[in-house]
Amino acid sequence: MENAEKRGGDGRILVGVVGTGGMGGMHAHCLHRKVAGARVAAVSDVDAEQAGKVAEECGGAAVFGDAVEMIRDDGVEAVVIASPDPTHAELVLECLRLGKPNLCEKPLATSPEEAMGVVEAEVELGRKLVQVGFMRRYDPQHVDVKDVAASGAIGRPVLFKGWHRNAEIPTGADSGWVVINSAIHDLDSARWMLDAEIKEVYVCGLNTTGSREGEFDLQLIQLSLTGGRLATIEVNVDAGYGYEVGVEVVGVSGTAYTAPPSGAVVRLDRVSSQNVEADWLERFEAAYNIELQQWVESINNGYPTGPDAWDGYASLVAAEACIASIKSGKPESVPVPEKPVLYEKEGSVVR
Ligand SMILES: NC(=O)c1ccc[n+]([C@@H]2O[C@H](COP(=O)([O-])OP(=O)(O)OC[C@H]3O[C@@H](n4cnc5c(N)ncnc54)[C@H](O)[C@@H]3O)[C@@H](O)[C@H]2O)c1
Repeated sequence: MENAEKRGGDGRILVGVVGTGGMGGMHAHCLHRKVAGARVAAVSDVDAEQAGKVAEECGGAAVFGDAVEMIRDDGVEAVVIASPDPTHAELVLECLRLGKPNLCEKPLATSPEEAMGVVEAEVELGRKLVQVGFMRRYDPQHVDVKDVAASGAIGRPVLFKGWHRNAEIPTGADSGWVVINSAIHDLDSARWMLDAEIKEVYVCGLNTTGSREGEFDLQLIQLSLTGGRLATIEVNVDAGYGYEVGVEVVGVSGTAYTAPPSGAVVRLDRVSSQNVEADWLERFEAAYNIELQQWVESINNGYPTGPDAWDGYASLVAAEACIASIKSGKPESVPVPEKPVLYEKEGSVVR
């Protein structure tokens, strides 16, 4: 970054956080308490009381009611976007207009078309400034599996299996919400773990409670990917017992799957037990910290290096195809166009 002298005199990157709810509040606290090299300079929320509370807890950050005003402020060099999904694309575009690096929570946008607008703006700019909050890519258990798969130790990876269970479905959530808000993480995991692009999806579902006919809180997603690879994903957003996410990558000569997250295994009265996390904030606490720390370091080194706008776009194209498959009851193709050169990395995506 060029404007090091601006950073409050101590060299730390001045970060503005949009949205101070569950995720934005967590990101702000994490930046304030755990991340080296950054300072929460400002927060923005339409809920002034909530914003004021988080600003106070983060060392007296400036408070803005309007997110665009905060992004445009000279005292903000990089932006975390954690407001509701429909606000994401426009706020990311504002960051791009000003050349400010940004970490946008998933989904990057509410449709592939909107996400493509972000990709096109970034390509036009000629540099990557956008990172999308697919934090599983920083989860130590997931990274271990990815490293084994990429090392060749289990032979050519041919199958991804993912399971994703939430304790309780939010009121009013329909099948489309389950795909865009929950399954989108798993769609990204499959692409990332297999280094491949999704070509076709087929979704079967159930309403496990019978409360909302035709709206699936349990979805089984089958994927075909480039390079002759396959994936199955179970998304169960009303599982009752707690929050759980895991993956397995099957290679031609072996397999690797995520170890259970930390926590003692307790054996008592002839029963062996282990804690199950309540939600994503608990399960992925370490991942969120590492995500932010690496984001800050990557900005210092020039540009964000994590999941990018293309990953945000490609996951939304697959998500839209999943929704189409739920409606049609048939497999649906995933029309991902050629990836712009800006997003090509060495060794990325098998064709
Ligand atoms: N990566 C993950 O694991 C993960 C998990 C949960 C949610 N999310 C994503 O994070 C985002 C936020 O979700 P959440 O659970 O924190 O929601 P939330 O409702 O707890 O918080 C959203 C906050 O944004 C504020 N807000 C609304 N409109 C705004 C605007 N125009 N400008 C500024 N602030 C505004 C709200 O007042 C609220 O405080 C969503 O996009 C969601 O999909 C990601």
